[in-house]
Amino acid sequence: MAATTKKKEATPEKKAYDPSEIKVRRVNFQFKTNNNRFYYKNNPFSTHFINVLHVLFPTGERFFVNSVLKHQKSISDDKLKKQIRNFCGQEGIHSSMHERFWNILKAHDYKFEGYESHIDTLLHKLVAKIEVEGTKINNIDLVATACLEHFTALFGHAMFMRVDTDPKTVPADMVELFKWHACEEIEHKNVAFDVMKVVDKDEFAKRVALMPIATAVLYFYLAVGTLMFLYQDRKHLKVSQLPKQFYEFATGLFVELHGDLVKEYFSFFKKDFHPSDLNDYHLAEEFLKDKAYA
Ligand SMILES: [Fe+2]
Ligand SMILES: [Fe+2]
Repeated sequence: MAATTKKKEATPEKKAYDPSEIKVRRVNFQFKTNNNRFYYKNNPFSTHFINVLHVLFPTGERFFVNSVLKHQKSISDDKLKKQIRNFCGQEGIHSSMHERFWNILKAHDYKFEGYESHIDTLLHKLVAKIEVEGTKINNIDLVATACLEHFTALFGHAMFMRVDTDPKTVPADMVELFKWHACEEIEHKNVAFDVMKVVDKDEFAKRVALMPIATAVLYFYLAVGTLMFLYQDRKHLKVSQLPKQFYEFATGLFVELHGDLVKEYFSFFKKDFHPSDLNDYHLAEEFLKDKAYA
């Protein structure tokens, strides 16, 4: 908690965020087949947790884009309109880069098409269509997007604050992909939220009601996906090592992604919450400053 709180304090050198700076970067990451199936610190739990993210991001981020685009007709502010365009551009490239990693997963013979298509159906054919005419049950896709973008922004923050990306134990291409993605999640974290604020005057009640559901569903599918990959790896796992490996994941990557962020997560339940309350744009700026693609 302390590290996050410290980062929130305004310092003279920390510049205020300007959302017009959302920039679509035409990256072109190429991933090499890694002979080590458990590329993250040689740990199957951590690696498969990351693999599930690779599978969830493409369909999840297409859902985010569709949800925001569906409501853009209600937006008259030119600045926000421009942010929407750049948000969609960024998420589109995130989807395609994570999907590119699927070739590596397929090279290891993992089967995840059924899982992915289930998530796709859930988001695009169920959540996107929830609406009961004449009631306040509407805009659910947009509110869900604002909830899940809070997660991507906090994971992005954690990537820079806590997640261990030591090049000795974590592949450099994976670090580059996730840090680039983290930067852009930090950059555009206000967009879906600001659209929701314009579109729905009942947004507070809806986001407070939906966030616990979105959280439960997200972690349910993260767990299911991780177990799915682990089961497919049963011939490559040593049962005697699993408790130790699980302990390392639970106290390592999982805590690094979540540890400091519990308070920030709950700030979403405040009426006057805004994603920019956590001023961490300097983290993205610092990482991108030397990048050719920035
Ligand atoms: Fe993204
Ligand atoms: Fe995002």
